Order: sequence, then C-alpha cells, then structure tokens
Amino acid sequence: MPGRGALCLGLLLPVLLRCGSAQPGGCPALCECSEPARTVKCVNRNLTAVPPDLPPYVRSLFITGNPLTDLPAGAFPAQRLPDLASLNLSGNHLRTVEAGSLALPALRQLDLSGNALASFSPQAFGEGGSPLEELALRGALRNHSVLLSLAALLQSGALRNLSRLELADNELLLLPAGMFTALPALRQLDLSNNSLVGLRNVSFQGLGQLQSLNLSDNSLGVLWNNTLAQFRSLPALRHIVLRRNTWVCDCAIEDLVTWLKESDQVEGKEALTCASPEKMLGKALLKINGSDLNCSVPVDLPSQLQTSYVFLGIVLALIGAIFLLVLYLNRKGIKKWMHNIRDACRDHMEGYHYRYEINADPRLTNLSSNSDV
Ligand SMILES: *[C@@H]1O[C@H](CO)[C@@H](O)[C@H](O)[C@H]1NC(C)=O
Ligand SMILES: *[C@@H]1O[C@H](CO)[C@@H](O)[C@H](O)[C@H]1NC(C)=O
Ligand SMILES: *[C@@H]1O[C@H](CO)[C@@H](O)[C@H](O)[C@H]1NC(C)=O
Ligand SMILES: *[C@@H]1O[C@H](CO)[C@@H](O)[C@H](O)[C@H]1NC(C)=O
Ligand SMILES: *[C@@H]1O[C@H](CO)[C@@H](O)[C@H](O)[C@H]1NC(C)=O
Ligand SMILES: *[C@@H]1O[C@H](CO)[C@@H](O)[C@H](O)[C@H]1NC(C)=O
Ligand SMILES: *[C@@H]1O[C@H](CO)[C@@H](O)[C@H](O)[C@H]1NC(C)=O
Ligand SMILES: *[C@@H]1O[C@H](CO)[C@@H](O)[C@H](O)[C@H]1NC(C)=O
Ligand SMILES: *[C@@H]1O[C@H](CO)[C@@H](O)[C@H](O)[C@H]1NC(C)=O
Ligand SMILES: *[C@@H]1O[C@H](CO)[C@@H](O)[C@H](O)[C@H]1NC(C)=O
Repeated sequence: MPGRGALCLGLLLPVLLRCGSAQPGGCPALCECSEPARTVKCVNRNLTAVPPDLPPYVRSLFITGNPLTDLPAGAFPAQRLPDLASLNLSGNHLRTVEAGSLALPALRQLDLSGNALASFSPQAFGEGGSPLEELALRGALRNHSVLLSLAALLQSGALRNLSRLELADNELLLLPAGMFTALPALRQLDLSNNSLVGLRNVSFQGLGQLQSLNLSDNSLGVLWNNTLAQFRSLPALRHIVLRRNTWVCDCAIEDLVTWLKESDQVEGKEALTCASPEKMLGKALLKINGSDLNCSVPVDLPSQLQTSYVFLGIVLALIGAIFLLVLYLNRKGIKKWMHNIRDACRDHMEGYHYRYEINADPRLTNLSSNSDV
C-alpha cells in the first residue's frame, strides 16, 4: 500500500506544481509579466523552450532573441492561452515549426522574422481555419522547401483572414505559381529585397482586397502581359513599388512601358530605369519609345537565307538570258567582228612571219651584230 501512495503523490505533484505556477499573477522565470497590460516578455534570455507556465491572461507575448530551435505541437496550448492575440517570436534560432504548434483561437499577429526556418508544417495553425491577420516572415525562409511548405499552408485556405504578409529579405528567386490564390482578405504584400527574377506564372487572381504590393529591390527584368493584365484588373491595388530592379530594355519591355505610361498604380514610376543593354543603361522606362527598341517583326534566319538564295538564282538566270539574247541579236555584228579579228590576226601573223625570215637570214644577222659594236 505505501508503494501505491507514493505513486499517487508522484502523479499529483507535477499537476499541483503546474497549477500553482499558472495562478493569475504568476510569471515564468526569465520573463517579465504585466497583468494590467496583459503582456509577457521573455527577451534575450537563455530560453531553449517556450515556458510551460505562461499566465492565462496574456494577450501579447514576446519571446525574442533566445536560442529556441523548435516549436513542437502544443508549444502554445490553446485552452490555457485563450486570449493570446499577438505573438512575437522574431530573432530566435527557430528551425522547425511543427503541426499544431500555433493553433491558438485568438491569434491575430505573428512575427517569425529573423529565424532560419528549415521546416514549416502546413498544419502549423491546426486543422480548422486560423483568425491570423498579420504574418511576418522577414529574413526567415532559408530553404526552398520551406517556401513550398508555406505556399501549401497559404493555399490550403487556413489563413483566409490574412491581411498582411511580409516576405521581405528572403533571397527568393521564384514564387510557387498558386501561392496567393487563397488569400481573399490580403491587403498588403511585401516581397521587397528578394532576388525575384520573374513573376511570369505567379497568379494574383482573387486578391480582391490587395492595396499594396512591394516588389522593390529584386531582379526583375520584365513583366509580361498576363501579369500586367492581372494588376490592371485588381480593383483595390493602388501602390505597386517596382524600384531598384534590373529592367532589360529590349523588345520584350514594350508592353511594360505601355502599361507604365497609362497606369497610375505604380509609385515613383519616373524613377524606373534600364539596367541593360549597355546603350540603354540608366534610361528612364517612361522615356522609351518605339524607335529606341528595334522591334521589327522578327524573321527567322533559315527562311531568310533560303529566300536570298532563290533571289540570287533568279538574278543569275536573268543575267545569263540577257547575255544570250545580246549574243543572238548581235550575231551579224559578231560574225563581222570575228572576221575582222581573223583578218587582223592574219596581217599580224604575216608581219611576224616576215620579221622571222629577216632574223633567220645570216647576212642580216651579221649586219645587225656589227652595228652594235
Ligand atoms: C546562457 O547559458 C550559457 C550556457 O548554457 C551561459 O554560459 C550563459 O551565461 C547564459 N546566459 C544568460 C544570460 O543566462
Ligand atoms: C517583434 O520584435 C522585434 C524585436 O523586438 C521588433 O523589431 C518587431 O517590430 C516586433 N514585431 C512586431 C510585429 O511588433
Ligand atoms: C531544407 O530543409 C529540408 C527539411 O528540413 C531539408 O531536408 C533540406 O536538406 C534542406 N535543404 C537545404 C538546401 O538546406
Ligand atoms: C475571419 O474574420 C471574420 C470577420 O472578422 C470572422 O467572422 C471569422 O470568424 C474569421 N475567421 C476565422 C477562421 O477566425
Ligand atoms: C536585404 O536582404 C538581405 C538578406 O537577404 C539582408 O542581409 C539585407 O540587410 C537586406 N537589405 C535591406 C536594405 O534590408
Ligand atoms: C510557366 O508555365 C509554363 C507553362 O505553364 C512552363 O512551361 C514554364 O516552365 C513556367 N515557367 C516558370 C518560370 O515556372
Ligand atoms: C517597399 O520596400 C522597401 C524595401 O524594403 C522599403 O524601403 C519601402 O518603404 C517599401 N515601400 C512600401 C510602400 O511599402
Ligand atoms: C500585350 O497586350 C497588348 C494590349 O493589351 C497588346 O497590344 C500586345 O500585343 C500584347 N503583347 C503580347 C506580347 O502579346
Ligand atoms: C523617341 O525618343 C528620342 C530620344 O530618346 C527622341 O529624340 C524622339 O523624339 C522620340 N520619338 C518620339 C516619336 O517620341
Ligand atoms: C537599332 O538598330 C540600329 C540600326 O540597326 C542601331 O544603330 C541601334 O543601335 C539599334 N538600337 C538598339 C537599342 O539596339
């Protein structure tokens, strides 16, 4: 019987301890709590895990600058944190965000910036929809597979109330095509300071609330018609930022220039300049006109060569025909001319023959050699 007693106590003790520390007014070690402000801050401490004894009144929670690497399922238990609305987890060393770790019923604002995420579960916010409105992932996506997981999360429709998404400073090259298709409430999208080389297949369809799109400091060379058509058709989109990209001012940029000239959606459009080719470097996109771009209808080289060979053949044949015609028409003149030549030759040959006979005469040879002396 004493054995059973000890077992009961062993099971009870942690429960009692947990209850004790979760009393209103209790504050986890290494954190600062303010019940009136409903705020808890655990900033630049040595936390390696989310404290299990957070007070239930908390609305704003800062756990920043800690060596925290993993958010396991249940890291923030929903039933004990019913009011947690703003969660700042920036500047930790988070690598993995597991399924169910962020399933909080009141969460509106989440900052995961400045972590080195390598894995982000598409079920991180739980199975049902999340009320999240702001998600910051500035400088947090270190790995393409994380971008794909994030795209899967967004596309699943779990964040249909999201109105602000920050994806700046992530070295992104290309975006998954359907990444933004299930975000009907999105108003602000920040993609600045990445390495985006194109948006060709990215769909912005369905972003009926989108007001601002920041694409500054990327590597865009051109925007194609289908992207421009989508921008044109988004009713609320008033602020597109395209500064500091590497616009390539060849023929393909014509549609972008046309759109820029007529659109009032682009902020500071006068400042956009060409980055290449060399002779267009620094030229304002708005000042480009058709005569700057050699946009003649492209003719493919092989067929061009073929036509030029045919043309050459026809010209040669014509010259040949004209030559033969001239010969034919002049046949009498030519005959006469031949006779003249023959006569001239004969005269000449006779003269030659005569001189030869003189040279062959020994007497005359002596005479000429004596006269040399
Ligand atoms: C954090 O932990 C390390 C070792 O684990 C220790 O050296 C350091 O002093 C701690 N820093 C603080 C602020 O507690
Ligand atoms: C989160 O905390 C960091 C560091 O204190 C701060 O720079 C950032 O603005 C905070 N994020 C939000 C959404 O308030
Ligand atoms: C990206 O993260 C995944 C999942 O953790 C990992 O398997 C993969 O090796 C990582 N890739 C790179 C390039 O770091
Ligand atoms: C999204 O917002 C609407 C209106 O504010 C609200 O009724 C709805 O419950 C929210 N969705 C989720 C999943 O919280
Ligand atoms: C742009 O992003 C890089 C990381 O990708 C970062 O190091 C740099 O500070 C950022 N630049 C600005 C102006 O924020
Ligand atoms: C865009 O889509 C087309 C066809 O749908 C595909 O051939 C092409 O590779 C895609 N480009 C990129 C950059 O994904
Ligand atoms: C766009 O991003 C750049 C670089 O991050 C920033 O300086 C600028 O303020 C942003 N503009 C808008 C309108 O958000
Ligand atoms: C782009 O659209 C404009 C009109 O919307 C059209 O005149 C132009 O030919 C299109 N360009 C291409 C490459 O299809
Ligand atoms: C085209 O631009 C050049 C300067 O780049 C200018 O001299 C010329 O007048 C412009 N032509 C038209 C038709 O606007
Ligand atoms: C367009 O073609 C003309 C003549 O072929 C050339 O002198 C000019 O440099 C070309 N312009 C561009 C922008 O390539």
